[in-house]
Amino acid sequence: MNKFENILAIETSCDETAIAVYSNSKGLLAHKVYSQIELHRKHGGVVPELASRDHVRKIFPLISETLLEANLNLKNINGIAYTQGPGLIGALLVGATVAKTLAFSLDIPTIGVHHMEGHLLAPFLDQNLKNELTFPFLALLVSGGHTLLIKVTDIGQYEILGQSIDDAAGEAFDKTAKIMGLPYPGGPQIEKIALLAKNNKYEFPRPLMKNLKQNNLNFSFSGLKTFALNTFEKINSEIHKENILNLEEEKAEIADAFQKAVTDVFIKKCKQASILTGINKLIIAGGVSANKYLRTKFNELESEINLKTYYPKFEFCTDNAAMIAYAGMQRFQRGETSPLNSTVKPKWPLEQLN
Ligand code: KG4
Ligand code: ZN
Repeated sequence: MNKFENILAIETSCDETAIAVYSNSKGLLAHKVYSQIELHRKHGGVVPELASRDHVRKIFPLISETLLEANLNLKNINGIAYTQGPGLIGALLVGATVAKTLAFSLDIPTIGVHHMEGHLLAPFLDQNLKNELTFPFLALLVSGGHTLLIKVTDIGQYEILGQSIDDAAGEAFDKTAKIMGLPYPGGPQIEKIALLAKNNKYEFPRPLMKNLKQNNLNFSFSGLKTFALNTFEKINSEIHKENILNLEEEKAEIADAFQKAVTDVFIKKCKQASILTGINKLIIAGGVSANKYLRTKFNELESEINLKTYYPKFEFCTDNAAMIAYAGMQRFQRGETSPLNSTVKPKWPLEQLN
């Protein structure tokens, strides 16, 4: 039997406590996610200290439940993967400390996983995609904290082609939603109300598109959020002046225009990256990759140019420990382990993995 037949994985980088058990021969055996969304919603965003405390409360019960579902106990575990960064320092510390303590008492190794490598490799959890998804490929990682366009030549070989110079894509979704009084997290809310838009009323700018021909593949989203704010304030003042406007309809139009602008920028930059590198496979992963409008538009692109897009299953788009388990298993199988004195890395550029 493989030295790392069964591993346990722990993800606590932000507001989800997540645990997974992964088998080298059988794949994912069990995974559970406890979301703290309700806890943070009344504050309009994640409160780091509350997040850390809630991870402490939930982590051990969740480990027990996940092991039970996998029909294993701690004695069957050969290694522990945990999210070492990037993320909230207190939240990361909870997962890392539990991982190291368990590993020390069980005398098994740990591996610290980069959260974004987890997102990047999440599509590989789908057994059907495993054979099709061969290196090299492009990856668009779009989450609450990151927006990265990468050329991937192997596990750990990541060349950043472009990244956001200000807000991350998910962050822009969240902030735009907040401006309109929608609850956290805003991405799914924007997606939902955009479906009600009928009039294509607003046209949002496409930031950093002018220098696309010079192969500038960076992104900027903070201006879109400001554009949303200005548009929303104008609508409110119109309503105030008793010009007949329906606020809910206007919110839907803003959401629709915002989502279209973000997706359009992603499409054009990914197309350019494909032309530039000659690579015609693209993974889109991270929370924003759950967006169905974005997926539809990228699917249309498939017939337009020869660029095939792959996604994680919906449940593995947002934060989970299955992706950390998969990435951790790849690293264990390559002979890598992390020393027990390694520290968490709240900021950790993905290129440093190379
Ligand atoms: O990957 P993730 O769960 O956590 C981070 O690593 O940040 O991503 C969370 C982000 C949030 O900003 C959330 O609003 C966004 O992903 N998100 C979406 C959708 N679902 C989650 N954005 C747009 N459309 C969605 N359906
Ligand atoms: Zn994430």
